Amino acid sequence: MARLVGGCATEVGMLEGVLDHVLIDEATLQRRVKELGQVISAEYQGKDLVLVCVLKGGVAFLTDLMRRLTVPHEIDFMAISSYGGQRTESSGVVRILMDLHADIAGRHVLLVEDIVDSGRTMEYLLRALQARNPASLRVCTLLNKPCRRVVDVPLDYIGFDIPDDFVLGYGLDFDEKYRNLPFVGVLKQYR
Ligand code: IMP
Ligand code: MG
Repeated sequence: MARLVGGCATEVGMLEGVLDHVLIDEATLQRRVKELGQVISAEYQGKDLVLVCVLKGGVAFLTDLMRRLTVPHEIDFMAISSYGGQRTESSGVVRILMDLHADIAGRHVLLVEDIVDSGRTMEYLLRALQARNPASLRVCTLLNKPCRRVVDVPLDYIGFDIPDDFVLGYGLDFDEKYRNLPFVGVLKQYR
């Protein structure tokens, strides 16, 4: 049996006890991704652009964003793990599980992330990628939690600033699940 939640067929009860409320609905997400696509396309005209997606959370955002770009570009992926023992906190201990295939030296790199929370993951990624001498290195994050920032990191494109909630959906997981939701929702009672 299935029912419709925000346009996505889910098993009955899948979100019960998990979803508190929808924070950013599907239409609002798509409208903002389109706007970001327009801005990024204008700024990268005539440049050798590589979108670097951080797996797994950035994947829904990347696939929508790239289809809004009107400039030629490549995509590449990095997989990292940034969690310690807890399920809703990043530890700051980042490990590269899968590295890029592309050589980014001399190329314009745009890092596509799902969310910047403490900033520790982003700080690590920026340092790791900068060492490979790209022509430019910028960050596009769908979500930003400014009130949780521990490390100051430069964010060039931000989809939405959000409050201090643990969110899931549209690529973001809770315990590796709920990435498929077409909206961003707030997890019930997480702290
Ligand atoms: P940071 O290192 O604290 O900035 O955390 C960054 C990573 O933690 C993100 O790329 C996400 O994978 C994960 N994360 C942080 N906040 C959330 C959230 O609210 N929901 C799901 N994942 C999150
Ligand atoms: Mg992430």
